[in-house]
Amino acid sequence: MSKVNVLLIGGGGREHALADALARSPRLARLYTTHPQNPGLAALAQPVDVPVHIREIYRLAQFCRHHDIGLVVIGPEGPLAEGYADRLGAEGITVFGPTADAARLEADKVWCKQLLRGASIPTADARVVTDAEAARQFFETRVHDDSAFALLAQRLLPIRDPARRRHVFMAAVRLGIAALDRAAHHAADLTTVKDSGVFRFPAGDSAPFLLEAKALATAWRAPRPDLPVIKAAGLAAGKGVIVPASLHEAFDAVDRLMVQKTLGDAARQVLIEDRLDGTEVSLLAIVDGQNILVLPPCQDHKRLLDGDAGPNTGGMGAICPADTLDEPTMARAVRDILVPTVDALRRDGIRYRGVLYAGLMLTPAGPKVLEYNCRFGDPECQPLMARLRSDPIDLMLAACAGRLADADVHWSPDAACCVVLATHGYPASPRTGDAIRGLDHAAALPHVKVYHAGTARDADGRIVTAGGRVLGVTATAPTLADARRRAYDACACITFPGMHYRKDIGAPR
Ligand code: AMP
Ligand code: GLY
Repeated sequence: MSKVNVLLIGGGGREHALADALARSPRLARLYTTHPQNPGLAALAQPVDVPVHIREIYRLAQFCRHHDIGLVVIGPEGPLAEGYADRLGAEGITVFGPTADAARLEADKVWCKQLLRGASIPTADARVVTDAEAARQFFETRVHDDSAFALLAQRLLPIRDPARRRHVFMAAVRLGIAALDRAAHHAADLTTVKDSGVFRFPAGDSAPFLLEAKALATAWRAPRPDLPVIKAAGLAAGKGVIVPASLHEAFDAVDRLMVQKTLGDAARQVLIEDRLDGTEVSLLAIVDGQNILVLPPCQDHKRLLDGDAGPNTGGMGAICPADTLDEPTMARAVRDILVPTVDALRRDGIRYRGVLYAGLMLTPAGPKVLEYNCRFGDPECQPLMARLRSDPIDLMLAACAGRLADADVHWSPDAACCVVLATHGYPASPRTGDAIRGLDHAAALPHVKVYHAGTARDADGRIVTAGGRVLGVTATAPTLADARRRAYDACACITFPGMHYRKDIGAPR
């Protein structure tokens, strides 16, 4: 059994979990990290002493040669989409992680959707828009059974110019909101609707108009559980998907992504995707270009607050295995989704090597793809690695060599539960620099791993918060209920100012 030097690219909780699994391998000689500022990684790996940037990738390749790196593991999607695997691979270096054209599955949701449609792989219908007004109009078509909107559509019809029509519409909405909330309105808005000539103001009386405007504002703010979802096509660090609860929220999202361009080029193209209903599950597989090794299903908890309330986040906790995906449904997902995806990629000349992560919605009509990722999930990786019994180096090298058909993978029979401790203000505006206490105490508990995600050492050597998701407290036990209990007992040992976390990760639903 030959020993291997491994370079791990990436510096979050997923990478700490990977490093921890790699460090357990009897095949590991030395582990190197691109992110020694993460104290979890610093404790397990030597720092890379060259810049880590695609523009200077030759220096990383040189580093690999000088240090006899036998395996590069790329954790995050950014370097995969930028082509690290292509460039290092071209230098003869063995890389676990897909090439840039394969990573488009995650980095270009429009391309991914086309691939899925082309291969009849179950996924939600979606249309691509590049124009904000087209997006707004699409949302409006979804609420045209609403009488207030139907009336308004009729009224606005004579205004030919779409920009002008929208201007009048928004003025009417704002006046309606002011009337509903008994707040002062802007005189300019009243002038706009009056000048438009499409509303009725008999003898200067605004009462008939206000009645209409109030109905419009009510419809505008009304909860609508089936509005489509808005997705930036490009990589957006978990901020690119908005599930609007009302037309108001949908228009706000369109405005942010397509007018203010808060995500820049990532939202040059936007998908407006039909809403799917059901339970979500993360089905990850290791792929060697042809063979698919399915990992035990995981469940992420994307929303910020208990009971799946609040905004979407990068993930507030995960469990493995997720019993929501029973054996027959899993077999169906592999047959109808994973296998045809890898085939479709091959037809496009792409050999997918690395982790293929399918975010699935289990709908009454069967599992459907919500998204593909080209890497381990974060935090799904944490409970997965806590359960992995096989040698990760063997497994990754087998994937790189196209030898997965012979690979054997073993998992602990235990369940694993990972609870993410988040920082003050996460996800909107995470605060950093808060001192963390109780780490050693938590990590010393049996069957508990404390994975570092957004942490750093300050000038005094204290471990402080350095990112939104700070720690992934992960525990294993023979039952999920006990794994949860252990994870939460460990969470209770840790404190930092502003710390918050969900209390229902892995709770019975
Ligand atoms: P994504 O980053 O694509 O996983 O999307 C983030 C979250 O948005 C998902 O985990 C789902 O909860 C939700 N989501 C995405 N697409 C849809 C859809 N078509 N229908 C319902 N929810 C969705
Ligand atoms: N846990 C969600 C993700 O890794 O994208």
